[in-house]
Amino acid sequence: MCGIVAYIGDGEVGSILFDTLKRLEYRGYDSAGVAIKSGDEIVVVKAAGKIGNLEKVYREMGSPGESMGIGHTRWATHGSPTDINAHPHISGEIAIVHNGIIENYLELRESLTEKGFEFQSETDSEVLAHLINYFYQGDLIMAVTRALDEVEGSYAIAVLAASSPYIICARKDSPLVIGLGKLANYLASDVPALLPYTRDIVRLKDGEIAKLSKETVEIKNRFGELHPADVERIDWNIDAAEKGGYSHFMLKEIHEQPRALRETMAGRISEFGGDVRLDLGIDDEEIRNLERVSIIACGTSYHAGLFAKYLLPIVSGLPVEVELASEFQHLQLRPRTLVVGITQSGETADTLLALKKAKMCNVRLLAITNVVGSTVTNLVDSTIFTRCGPEIGVAATKTFTSQLVTLILLAICLGRARGFLTPEQGRKILIELSRLPALVQKVLDRRDSIKEIAELYADSSCYFFIGREFLYPIALEGALKMKEIAYIHSEGYAGGELKHGPLALITDFTPVVAIATFGRKIQSNIKEVRARGAEVIALASENDADIDKIANVVIRLPDTRPELSAVLCTVVVQLFSYYVAHKLGQPIDKPRNLAKCVTVE
Ligand code: M6R
Repeated sequence: MCGIVAYIGDGEVGSILFDTLKRLEYRGYDSAGVAIKSGDEIVVVKAAGKIGNLEKVYREMGSPGESMGIGHTRWATHGSPTDINAHPHISGEIAIVHNGIIENYLELRESLTEKGFEFQSETDSEVLAHLINYFYQGDLIMAVTRALDEVEGSYAIAVLAASSPYIICARKDSPLVIGLGKLANYLASDVPALLPYTRDIVRLKDGEIAKLSKETVEIKNRFGELHPADVERIDWNIDAAEKGGYSHFMLKEIHEQPRALRETMAGRISEFGGDVRLDLGIDDEEIRNLERVSIIACGTSYHAGLFAKYLLPIVSGLPVEVELASEFQHLQLRPRTLVVGITQSGETADTLLALKKAKMCNVRLLAITNVVGSTVTNLVDSTIFTRCGPEIGVAATKTFTSQLVTLILLAICLGRARGFLTPEQGRKILIELSRLPALVQKVLDRRDSIKEIAELYADSSCYFFIGREFLYPIALEGALKMKEIAYIHSEGYAGGELKHGPLALITDFTPVVAIATFGRKIQSNIKEVRARGAEVIALASENDADIDKIANVVIRLPDTRPELSAVLCTVVVQLFSYYVAHKLGQPIDKPRNLAKCVTVE
């Protein structure tokens, strides 16, 4: 997730761009840049690091520029966080900033290189600058329209040309907001950046393209027809606006999951071939010779690892062992093991140390992380990025579901390369996987009834979460969320384990969240706890006709494959814990004693 901004008007362009960029820093930053019109030229200043440092460089240059400019704060997804990869990207007299992923950038890059364009960066975004330059003959909106016709993927862009008096912007599957000022207009990825300047905003819709001058904003729809701007008056304060109107970052991040999952999958799926493209840097022969996978992780990422323990054997044919990083004993590693470190931050000390130990065994190391340029990426042989944008709430939410989806992609990729999974079997999983973001949205749309149920049980002093197979790690995750943010003692258990001890703790009214979207055996576990007085809140699939007879409360979820229903159930346990914590008035985004990133052993 990156942030883009633009300004056109008589104000001090540089100051306005830097101020609005800083207000988007919560979207992540590893590099930033601005392009500002100065006479007949465009001045570009960009660098890796914080926006404040970049502003200093700009001031030292004498704050050049007037009338209009564009800016970008980057959270790397393609190419490492360096000065060259920072936006804006330039081609001739064109400057662009881009947020999103251009899926067909490799093909476009090849054809533009043949046409004589020289690429400076490793980013997918640079192809847009060259494409627009290729089509530009004095009409910037026409050039942008033609370039976007060639592009597959998601984008929010702002474009300047040295010889054009306008800023052009467009969006598809990436947010973009226009701010309407007095003899000035603004652009940003999100509303909070604009609130000090204006409260009249226009949310650009998918497929729309707009032309901004200081006096006017012209918006064309996907068919090229002009239409009046739909102006919205914002009455939130800045703090609420940064959270997009949500009361906490955690809730915002829970709601970002459909988009996050789309980004995780973007450009990686070949439904037709039933295959997945992941740049693992391992040749097919080595993949065929693998004998096992060993996963190392902590906390929520460890739960993602446990999910893989159920998934990989049936999809890739490889057995999996999962180790808590802090307990990892490297002597267990045998040759032909693929070691996978899962860490959203890429900085968890326990995970890094365990991976260093694993490295001494001469095995292949792979990381799954959300943070480009993080320490883990320098330690391992290859990395898969989950691409879900920065997560600010201490409780991991969207990064966890993106890890689950990444592991499904990895399992298919390994299974196909090893000849364990047929194209038809791969295709079946992938078709259903493509529906997943929409199914997650359906679960989010039921938030009000989940809230009502959570508030009903909010005064309980102890919770149980139970599940089996793919859903067992989700039970652990639900219990962890409840402990972390609501400060209520919770136990996550495999359904079959209850009778081996924990049943003794079940008394009248103990809430048991039974994650039961598939499998019959969990129903026996529900009956066991009901017989001891528990109140069962069951998560069940839409077509489960029996569950109402045995559970006290049922939360229905769309029907899908078992491994994908784990993702849907995760969203429910996240919302459930969130609403319990909210009812209790806990500081959800910053729970006591916890840090987002644990850099001590
Ligand atoms: O950044 P990592 O994924 O390596 O972090 C591991 C754990 O510290 C983390 O998942 C922690 O358990 C979360 N706060 C859970 O919500």
